[in-house]
Amino acid sequence: MSALKNDRFLRALHRQPVDRTPLWIMRQAGRYLPEYRATRQRAGDFLTLCKTPDLACEVTLQPLDRFPLDAAILFSDILTIPDAMGLGLTLDEGVGPRFTSPIREPAQIARLGVPDPEGELRYVMDAVRLIKRELDGRVPLIGFAGSPWTLATYMIEGGGGDHDFKRAKQWVYAQPDDLHRLLAIVTESVIQYLRAQRAAGVDALMVFDTWGGALAADAYRAFSLNYMAQIVEALGDEVPTILFTKGGGHWLEAIADTGCSAVGCDWTVSLADARRRIGSRCALQGNLDPAILRAPIPVIEREVAATLNAFGAGPGHVFNLGHGITPDINPDHVAALVAAVHRGI
Ligand code: CP3
Repeated sequence: MSALKNDRFLRALHRQPVDRTPLWIMRQAGRYLPEYRATRQRAGDFLTLCKTPDLACEVTLQPLDRFPLDAAILFSDILTIPDAMGLGLTLDEGVGPRFTSPIREPAQIARLGVPDPEGELRYVMDAVRLIKRELDGRVPLIGFAGSPWTLATYMIEGGGGDHDFKRAKQWVYAQPDDLHRLLAIVTESVIQYLRAQRAAGVDALMVFDTWGGALAADAYRAFSLNYMAQIVEALGDEVPTILFTKGGGHWLEAIADTGCSAVGCDWTVSLADARRRIGSRCALQGNLDPAILRAPIPVIEREVAATLNAFGAGPGHVFNLGHGITPDINPDHVAALVAAVHRGI
């Protein structure tokens, strides 16, 4: 495998000096890009796109061909694991993800197996190997998984959409032992999946805890953070890890204490405060409000400067949005964002 020509992103994760702040964008390959929509149409649907390594590789590289980003992220989805566990994922436009066989009874947990990353999930590993070859060391490749709690919410609810999490929270308070049994199996699956991505060539790993912020403080530690900490520990120092809890601003210190390389911050956090709270324990990733990309370009430039200023001087910042880019964004605005980050302050 060739050495990396641009390692700014990895240097920032290790809190080493960089010539300029590296950036990538959550959901950088997606519907805001006409070339993504064209490839998805060729694939027929989103899941086929994920499960066809050639096409997954193609869309992974699309944003890098357009913008001078400092990292690529594997094109896939967090729901590949429950799909491989046999829950039957469907993803229809406008409906979002749905499982045909959600977890409704504790008895179903005993029947769940840990998927073999080079078996049911081999298409993901094949995509990683292909992307690494095609990238040829241009920039590092990020692999990822959902947090066990976030995956469990989809598995229990049967899909997205209900952001009250009525069923999943029922398990938190009325069936905590069942939920812990489910989370243990999902955690083992995530660990094996991320280790396999590492073996296939990814340079960093990110855990998306999209729904951790829906939990009360004590429940967050018990049902989300605890399991992410087990993942960070199992992965060891061999590969940098980024933990992102959307809505997790209250718990940044506790997230940093897991030993992760970087804490992802959503846009509700001040990076200046985050840095004061976390100190030199780890790097920070974030956190421009994705809604700012709808504003005129001078506003985008001003807000980029404000984000860079909020972090301030010194190493350890990976610029990103505070959550994923949405399909309605004009790619020219993304180009302006990337240029503004690269110009710096
Ligand atoms: O960042 C990247 O470019 C990599 C690709 C990526 C996707 N999903 C592609 C995708 C990543 C990292 C994810 C993770 C993911 N998937 C998360 C965690 C990150 C987050 O956004 O909080 C979650 C919660 C999911 C589950 C999921 N997948 C949802 C809720 C949806 C529907 C959302 C929508 O906008 O329709 C998906 C589908 C999905 N995953 C799309 C993409 C590009 C849109 C599918 C399409 O092309 O129609």
